[in-house]
Amino acid sequence: MYSISSHLIAYRTHLNRYFSSVTPIIPIKMTSEKLAGRALYNAIGKPKTIVAPMVDQSELAWRILLRRYGADLCYTPMFHAKLFATDERYRAKMWSEWDGRADIDRPLVVQFCANDPEYLLQAAQHIEDKCDAVDLNLGCPQGIARKGNYGAFLMDDWPLVEKLIRKLHENLKCAVTAKIRVYDDWEKSLEYAKMVLNAGAQFITIHGRTRDMKGQATGLANWKILRYLRDNLPSDQVFFANGNILYPTDLSRCTDAVACDAVMSAEGNLYNPGVFWTKDTNPDKQHARVDKMLREYFEIVKTCPGSASRTAMKAHFFKLLHEFLNVHKELRPVIGSTSVHADFDAWESIVKQVEELVEKIYEQPNIDELDVIVEGEMQPWGGKYRTVPYWRCQPYFRKVDGEKQNTRTLKIAASNETCANNGKREREADSEVAESGTEAKEPKKLKESAQEDVPVKA
Ligand SMILES: Cc1cc2nc3c(=O)[nH]c(=O)nc-3n(C[C@H](O)[C@H](O)[C@H](O)COP(=O)(O)O)c2cc1C
Repeated sequence: MYSISSHLIAYRTHLNRYFSSVTPIIPIKMTSEKLAGRALYNAIGKPKTIVAPMVDQSELAWRILLRRYGADLCYTPMFHAKLFATDERYRAKMWSEWDGRADIDRPLVVQFCANDPEYLLQAAQHIEDKCDAVDLNLGCPQGIARKGNYGAFLMDDWPLVEKLIRKLHENLKCAVTAKIRVYDDWEKSLEYAKMVLNAGAQFITIHGRTRDMKGQATGLANWKILRYLRDNLPSDQVFFANGNILYPTDLSRCTDAVACDAVMSAEGNLYNPGVFWTKDTNPDKQHARVDKMLREYFEIVKTCPGSASRTAMKAHFFKLLHEFLNVHKELRPVIGSTSVHADFDAWESIVKQVEELVEKIYEQPNIDELDVIVEGEMQPWGGKYRTVPYWRCQPYFRKVDGEKQNTRTLKIAASNETCANNGKREREADSEVAESGTEAKEPKKLKESAQEDVPVKA
């Protein structure tokens, strides 16, 4: 005997079969289903510290290391969307089976540069199940980006930026995010950020430098414009600040100054992975011995599949050991002449040499007096320099006339009263200018202060 319910089930099954054979598959509108904005931010654990996208430098092994030292969220290096979409060999070089693996490499944002929405989507679809979001690089200011028309050069083509983001927003399974630079003009920067968000970006990372602030003219990131943008975007917008992080203490300074959700660092973590360590002030975490850090990193590289971690290793060795190599100069040519493709034994011997040298340092009877980290006086820019023994990881400063670049830039900026106030006065002045019909610009003095700094690349 059939019950009524079994009749109903049979009928429904029949209907389903019938309709699935005649009804075209309606594409699922992913935007309504995927996590977005603050819900996504919460779902990935409300990250506070972020490893920036870095070409050839934020690869898998580095991310594994940085997560151990307090990075809550990592970005991959920028991948070239067209190549990633069309060239299997390029994809295999950039992406291994461990990249984005749930147990070792999440949360993860995968970054692409692109100028063609179709290729961008195709590229992103390869990894949409293996990351938490896909980021569009709108910040690369290098000549190669100018030539290829991507990165910060898309700041001149808002309709294209809009199309690129919207394409991912409407078609990708995971969220789209964007990393932008600022213009000299605060209002234009705000309009730009709004456009990026309206197109569908779920998180926005803002690097507080303009497109021209690169190489010799890098100068300081401007946290005041970041605060201005933060205050003028919707209060619930997930907002990441980027620029000027030297020490773990700078993370909270930046968070307070900008009122951002999280702080992203690039160069700072390359020289000192401990820059993200804020659980305590343990010197072995915040400024680890270079021998220990190098060993830990090297052991990670050895386990990583694919070639990206291996290829990036030499540059990481140089950066981790930067201060140490200023003293132990004899190691420079040894590292320099060792091929990234040399077998691990060659690299093992370098790691061992570093270990032996540092062990000798620790055999000194007065090592307790020598092995101290001293925090200096409060600087005009609101932070403090630390004197760190050369055998410990530490930030790297470019020098101008023997003076740290940051000191010089910040001194100039601080000597301009404009830097010390909260930026409100300049904005009021700007709006007066705007009202008088002239385009509002970032305060002139601040701009000049950045340009006066001519850092010498070491
Ligand atoms: C070695 C290196 C590679 C970088 N590659 C990228 C990249 O692939 N994509 C990107 O958006 N920014 C890239 N950047 C810029 C950083 O993400 C970051 O915006 C910039 O360095 C400012 O942050 P910082 O002051 O903490 O260094 C790179 C920076 C460095 C130092």
